[in-house]
Amino acid sequence: MNHLFIKGLNPTAPTLLLLHGTGGTERDLLPLAQMISPSSSILSVRGNVLENGMPRFFRRLAEGVFDEEDLIFRTKELNDFLDEAANEYGFNRNKIVALGYSNGANIAGSLLFHHKESLRGAILHHPMVPRRGIGIPVLTEVPVFISAGTNDPICSPDETRELDALLRDAGASVTVHWEHFGHQLTSSEVNAAAEWYNKLFS
Ligand code: MLT
Repeated sequence: MNHLFIKGLNPTAPTLLLLHGTGGTERDLLPLAQMISPSSSILSVRGNVLENGMPRFFRRLAEGVFDEEDLIFRTKELNDFLDEAANEYGFNRNKIVALGYSNGANIAGSLLFHHKESLRGAILHHPMVPRRGIGIPVLTEVPVFISAGTNDPICSPDETRELDALLRDAGASVTVHWEHFGHQLTSSEVNAAAEWYNKLFS
């Protein structure tokens, strides 16, 4: 997969896996990684799917309607890539914290839903429920930070609550941070994510 890897100064800190939103690139979330864990190594990946020239992590049939077959395929592809990248760059495969926005948060959620122990933790900015009606792996010990907008037209507050409940039922410890905005990423939610991360991981 197209990606960049930046080795961090602290080899014991989690590696941050950056996952951009639709139309983004692997460079978009670099400033967030700096704010959240400046000494972590960074693995930032570009989505392998193009929608009218815009990179994404999986296909969709319409806005908010995912192509499930592709979602499953792309999630496995990303999980396999994490194994390969950990070997190639020599970071701890068991200590990856995802940091995703929108479509990137959705594939991070899908990693949690489909692949046990794929992530040590996750920061999900404006995620949706990746799939419904499936058994989710046990997520005990996996902390998840979700930020959401009360006026988000893409991800409704009800969907955020549904995702929260599904992850909690699987054993994850979930923190939900609400903003009174829409789908955009705000600096205050990034600050809240940084505070959450630093309490748990540094
Ligand atoms: C998605 O397709 O993943 C969501 O609709 C978020 C987006 O990328 O707009």
